[in-house]
Parts: sequence; structure tokens; C-alpha cells
Amino acid sequence: MKLNELFGTEFPLIQGGMASIATGEFAAAVSNAGALGLVGAGGMNAAQLRDHIRRCKELTDCPFGVNLMLMNPEVEEQAKIVVEEGVGVVTTGAGVPGKYIPMWKEAGIKIFPVVAAGALVKRLAPLGVDGFIAEGTESGGHVGEMTTMALVPQIRALTDLPVIAAGGIASGRQLAAALALGACGAQLGTCLLVSEECPIHDNYKQALLKASDSDTVVTGRIGGTPVRVLKNQMARAYLSREKAGADKMELEQFTLGSLRKAVFEGDTKNGSLMAGQVAGMLHEIRPLRQILEALDTQCRACIKELEETWR
Ligand SMILES: Cc1cc2nc3c(=O)[nH]c(=O)nc-3n(C[C@H](O)[C@H](O)[C@H](O)COP(=O)(O)O)c2cc1C
Repeated sequence: MKLNELFGTEFPLIQGGMASIATGEFAAAVSNAGALGLVGAGGMNAAQLRDHIRRCKELTDCPFGVNLMLMNPEVEEQAKIVVEEGVGVVTTGAGVPGKYIPMWKEAGIKIFPVVAAGALVKRLAPLGVDGFIAEGTESGGHVGEMTTMALVPQIRALTDLPVIAAGGIASGRQLAAALALGACGAQLGTCLLVSEECPIHDNYKQALLKASDSDTVVTGRIGGTPVRVLKNQMARAYLSREKAGADKMELEQFTLGSLRKAVFEGDTKNGSLMAGQVAGMLHEIRPLRQILEALDTQCRACIKELEETWR
């Protein structure tokens, strides 16, 4: 079955859950534009999640889902809320969702854990998840070590379940490459940040538009939690503290609230401007629908072109 048929969407594309950004309004806008929108529960408490799910339902009749960050202190409650609110799809990040799977399956929820390596696939596939999101280190936000290019085919080889590629996809050419690697669709993050509907501060969008291909860096590879961000004053200061041997607690204190500073205050010096390596490919702010249609058209053209390219 094709991913768009599985989710009931027009395109086989899903929006990545993005903490503090993927509100009910944004998820609904993505779903209305033809992909699967996700409410990002990462920066929300349980009551806020319920509220955003309800707002999303008010604003769209299309399918949508929720991304749960398993390190969220209220995740136990959030895991029940997705059932109570009749959410159709749950994606999970930052942990192992094993204990919630029976409850979600009973409710008919489709479960797609985000994985950055094969170990979690072997552990979760027998528990009855519906597929995996294989997220490469090119992604914005929290990242693993493996690239999308190396990761997706290796995850594909481990399971017959649908694999969705994430990380480094902002054009139809990259989408076609993801399909060639064995994915049946893609999860998008960075390229949706520069949509008209995305609720981040305009300074954040402008910083993305100005970025070139090598303007992101991963903080936290040595002493903290690896996160890909645009290089700025804050990222440089973090990296020098990290190199100087700062411990995880100190580094976490240093970045506390920094994503919110970027998203809501537009503080491009001290905020954490999470973004993937495709930031250098973003040149204009467009409506979501145009972004998705362009990906679809370019992907089809690229698949045709490939038939002519090889020998
Ligand atoms: C600003 C930002 C915040 C993110 N927050 C989350 C999150 O809360 N939960 C999650 O599972 N993934 C998160 N991600 C990762 C995305 O869901 C997605 O997998 C990733 O952005 C795809 O790679 P790309 O940025 O190259 O498109 C975030 C990404 C960005 C850019």
C-alpha cells in the first residue's frame, strides 16, 4: 500500500513534529495542503497538547497526527490523550515507546517511531508498530550519527514495514533519492519552516533564507544531546564550552529556553535556530501548498530523467 493511501493524504509526505512550532494551527495547515500534519507535543504539557489537538480538528477535516517526545515529563498523560482524542497517527522521538504500543494499537492508532539506527527497529518491529521514520543526521533538531543515504537502505533491509525517510529532503530530486533508497515517502522539517503558515518569528525565517550549505553545526556531540542548528553566537559559545569540557547539566542549563527565544522572540544571536543541512536550499517564503506541489512535480520529473541517465 502506498503511504498516501495508508494515511489518507494527497501526497506521501509528512510534516516532522517540531517542538514549539508544530501547533494545532500549523498541523492543520499542513494537512489542508495535502501532507500529514503533526502536532508536535515536545514543548507542550498534557493540557496544551489536548488543546492543540482540538484546534487542529476544528481547522481541518483531513487526517493528522501527533509527535510525542518520550522524554517529555508529561508523556504518560499525553500518551492517553492521543487515544482519548481519536488521533490517527502517532510518531515518537527521543526514546522507546514500547509500553504505550498495546494501548495505541487497541485504539487503532498508526505508530511510526523515529529511528536513527537499526537497533530500535529490531526491538520495535515485533511489538506491532506500523512503520518507521528513518532520520538521518542531515536533519534539523535532535540528530543521530548516520546519514540518510546510509541509514534508509539499512533500515529498509531490516523490515518489510513502510519506511519514511527524514533528513536532507527539500527538493523533488532529494525526494526521488529517498524513494530510490527504499523509502515510501518523506518526513519534512526544515523546508516547511519557511512556509507562510509556519508560526516562527520572521527573523528565524530570514536567517534560514540567508543560510548557505555549510551554515549548520551540531552542538552537543561531545558532552550533551546532539542538536543541529544554524551557526550563530549561541552555537559558537556552546561549542567552545563543550570543547572546554563542560558537563551535560551545564550545557543543558546554557540552552534552556533557547528554541523558544528563536521561535517567539526572533533572537537570532542567543536563540537556538534549529535547522537541517538543506537550509542552504531555501530561497523564498511560499505557501505550504506551493512547497508540496513543487516537491511532487520535481520528484516526478526527476524519476523520468533518471531513466535516461543510467547507460
Ligand atoms: C526546528 C525543528 C524542531 C524539531 N523538533 C522535533 C521534535 O520535537 N520531535 C521530533 O521527532 N523531531 C523534531 N525535529 C525533526 C523533524 O521532525 C524532522 O525529522 C527533520 O526536520 C527532517 O529533516 P530536515 O530538517 O532535513 O527536513 C525538528 C526539526 C526542526 C527543524
